[in-house]
Amino acid sequence: MPVNHYEWSWGGPLPELLRHSEVKHSLLRDYLVDYFLTLVASPRQDKIQLTVVDGFCGGGRYISEAGLEMPGSPIVILKAIEAAKTRVMVEQQRRKDITFDVKLICIDKDRSAIAHLRHVLEHEGYGKHLATGAVELHVGDFSSKAEAVIAEVQRRSPRSGRSLFVLDQYGYNQVPLPVLNQIFSKLRQAEVVLTFNIDSLLNYLNQTNVARFERKTGMTDAVSAADMDKHQRGPGWRVRVQASLYQRLTQGSGATYFTPFFVRPDKGHGDFWLLHLSKHWKARDVMASAHWRHHNHFVHYGAAGFDMFSTGYAARIDDEDSPQVAFEFDDAASKASRNAMLDQIPAALAASPDGVRFKDFFVDRVNSTPVTEAMFEQAVLALVREREVEVVGDNGSLRHVRTALQADHVLRIPQQRSLILLPPSLSRA
Ligand SMILES: C[S@@+](CC[C@H](N)C(=O)[O-])C[C@H]1O[C@@H](n2cnc3c(N)ncnc32)[C@H](O)[C@@H]1O
Repeated sequence: MPVNHYEWSWGGPLPELLRHSEVKHSLLRDYLVDYFLTLVASPRQDKIQLTVVDGFCGGGRYISEAGLEMPGSPIVILKAIEAAKTRVMVEQQRRKDITFDVKLICIDKDRSAIAHLRHVLEHEGYGKHLATGAVELHVGDFSSKAEAVIAEVQRRSPRSGRSLFVLDQYGYNQVPLPVLNQIFSKLRQAEVVLTFNIDSLLNYLNQTNVARFERKTGMTDAVSAADMDKHQRGPGWRVRVQASLYQRLTQGSGATYFTPFFVRPDKGHGDFWLLHLSKHWKARDVMASAHWRHHNHFVHYGAAGFDMFSTGYAARIDDEDSPQVAFEFDDAASKASRNAMLDQIPAALAASPDGVRFKDFFVDRVNSTPVTEAMFEQAVLALVREREVEVVGDNGSLRHVRTALQADHVLRIPQQRSLILLPPSLSRA
């Protein structure tokens, strides 16, 4: 079972923040700023309201590998809120203030972590937030507190249920599937950022403890006892079991859209998933854009285009005996993605002679691709310039689009080209 190496006592030595956790914090900060900026799309808006839940919040401060004091996730979240507000005021050239009605609920089962966090918050100037209830601290187990937290989100935002759950569990069994299901069934606009330590799970699981893992997490039928039998494991079992667990976790979460990206820490700490789960494709797109800005630490296993991970990923794409080159969200990965899309888009459109709406084409593939909507749009525009794809409006008339596509633009293979692409028997008919 995973052990918790984090211990806080005010005035005592701080736990070390490893480099990959630093990167995780940068991603969280960037994502939150983008998230707030998308929430305040209009300069006329004068308020946004949401609840952020840091379900495994820790003690609020660390020491980095280089010996510097570093903020923990609650401070990262609060600073991101301030940075986003400043950017909204400047970028929208506002004269009128905007109210960020954000409540931060922090939960940790370790009483000394919460006590330490209280000191850190006061020390960092957030004492007023504690006094007004804008920041709440709770000692306890996240999944036992989840129902009350969901009720609080519903009380604050009855229609939207707008909320972000940061669930940075240390291992893999502290956020059971039924809890994720409750979040997504009760809160229309909830998002979850979930850490799942896949390598330590695979090291731990064996024939005798699979059933216990299933009972604790609700992740049934993803792993069989035979999968865990050291004598029966064929080549690639680790990758196969990962894919199966990934499917079970994402499909069983109640969310509709996910980012299938992994973190591969240096120094051999084992891969973990940093999954973003939501019910809106746009939210996934904002998270995918943040991943592209933090390349080198985030990898995914799969091809570059639209068929990256999804169900067939394990057997076809990766094999631990001949591991593929990691896809690292860098320039090379961006070029590979574009090249793959330039082949895959016309091939997919050839199967739909009436064409497919721009938005539908992307959203249908969003869970199995590392590309963002903007990257997809650029690839389509390149194909339009090459006359490999044409764009038509609602009424079927051709559109001469050069710079920007709209959600309801229909993409199709140019009529003459599609005749050439048809098999000879059909094109003669
Ligand atoms: C990896 S640390 C998270 C740190 C924090 N998210 C950050 O980035 O600064 C994990 C924290 O989760 C707490 N924890 C472990 N199991 C928990 C549970 N079931 N419910 C709530 N907190 C838990 C531990 O006490 C520890 O402080």
